[in-house]
Amino acid sequence: LHVIHIAAEMAPVAKVGGLADVVTGLGKSLQKRGHLVEIVLPKYDCVQNNLIRDLRVLDTVIESYFDGQLFKNKVWVGTVEGLPVYFIEPLHPNKFFGRGQFYGEHDDFKRFSYFSRAALELLLQAGKKPDIIHCHDWQTAFVAPLYWDLYAPKGLNSARICFTCHNFEYQGAAHASELASCGLDVEQLNRPDRMQDNSASDRINPVKGAVVFSNIVTTVSPTYAQEVRTAEGGRGLHSTLNFHSKKFIGILNGIDTEAWNPATDDFLNVQYHSNDLQGKAENKEALRKILGLSSADVRKPLVGSITRLVPQKGVHLIRHAIYRTLEMGGQFVLLGSSPVPHIQREFEGIANQFHNHEDIQLILKYDESLSHSIYAASDMFIIPSLFEPCGLTQMIAMRYGSIPIARKTGGLHDSVFDVDDDTVPVRFRNGFTFVNPDEQGVNHALDRALILYMNNPESWQQLVQNVMNLDFGWESSATQYEELYSKVVASARVANR
Ligand code: ADP
Ligand code: GLC
Repeated sequence: LHVIHIAAEMAPVAKVGGLADVVTGLGKSLQKRGHLVEIVLPKYDCVQNNLIRDLRVLDTVIESYFDGQLFKNKVWVGTVEGLPVYFIEPLHPNKFFGRGQFYGEHDDFKRFSYFSRAALELLLQAGKKPDIIHCHDWQTAFVAPLYWDLYAPKGLNSARICFTCHNFEYQGAAHASELASCGLDVEQLNRPDRMQDNSASDRINPVKGAVVFSNIVTTVSPTYAQEVRTAEGGRGLHSTLNFHSKKFIGILNGIDTEAWNPATDDFLNVQYHSNDLQGKAENKEALRKILGLSSADVRKPLVGSITRLVPQKGVHLIRHAIYRTLEMGGQFVLLGSSPVPHIQREFEGIANQFHNHEDIQLILKYDESLSHSIYAASDMFIIPSLFEPCGLTQMIAMRYGSIPIARKTGGLHDSVFDVDDDTVPVRFRNGFTFVNPDEQGVNHALDRALILYMNNPESWQQLVQNVMNLDFGWESSATQYEELYSKVVASARVANR
């Protein structure tokens, strides 16, 4: 199959969160199975060019429509993690991707509807004949209606559209008139059975549009797929998802086991393996030194957290976990930053409170290299999310022998199984879980983890070895995508005959 992903993020060159990891991880896995996989990304000025191989500008300039005019786009090509990537740089006076950041601009709707159309224009003008165009999240959700309205009729019609929603909290809804800029017909689309937002008739909802107009709609875990089909979890889209339930499925993400491998990870002080955990201990020692944490007690448990600090992640529970860990005699390291100013300020306050503290360190920024060190150094890893479509950090943590402490929701429910849960076969039990999103809930799981670690080192080591050997690679999930793709491609061939 020929699969083209159109996305706003890709690891490691343009990463904000898990979406970036998924585009690269799923792409690599499908490529290994012999499919032709290509990626189209915006050429943000903050893309990490140094991580792109053979980056060059194509001779041909792509013209694309916006706001009644044609604009030229420079197209760059290069290879990221072995995958061919096209980067679109709009030569538009608003410098859509020259803002020093990926998201959070007042005109994000314009930036990404522009990009979605330019990406399709690139495929058309470059003569691509993909079997599948796979778009992700609201930023590239425009691809689905644009494809059927404007590009399938122009000759891209062999493709079928797969849309993956990584988080239904972000739907990108805007005033209906905004949709006209990218050339879509507002009157046709602003209807309850098409792109009209379910709660406001003058608003257009890109995610709803992609659900309606894609051939395959996925989200990133089976439990989250169930949750979003309920009024409480669907963020206004549950009725749409129920209506389109035949083409909607939850597939648990994997992680890129090459990028996240403690036995080969160049970011680590010492590389290690599940049957040689001395290296893990050395990484803990090294991180403590770098961060100024006390090393007096080798056996003091180190709790890690690496996260975007947004309400979804249970920030008040993370804050509680910091104090509780201290109370219970452990150490805590948090690496995270927040796009929400009051949350960022709150955590800066906590960081100041513990400035130079020998057991707590908060590092409030995005830092890829430090994230690897923390996965390797920590004994346990807390993810108290209020909701979590999939969550990758629990899987990465396990790969590095850090035991997850997680709230049972979404993808955490599908990947973390409590050591005390008798309903689950022992070999699958891999962490500590809780249900209620409150302080007692956190204590219930965190206390048990800390106590087992401190009182029963042998059981703990056994648990660490077990989780390091679990398989969270992309294999089985990529198989599911492959099957879905193949099914719609086969029916497209019949339809086009
Ligand atoms: P989400 O996509 O909702 O943020 P995921 O668990 O799916 O959550 O993915 C988060 C990804 O981003 C992981 O690869 C994690 O290591 C990384 N990450 C999150 N915050 C930071 C940070 N401050 N520094 C480095 N990496 C981070
Ligand atoms: C979103 C979700 C996260 C998921 C990631 C990758 O950012 O918040 O749970 O793991 O996408 O699919």
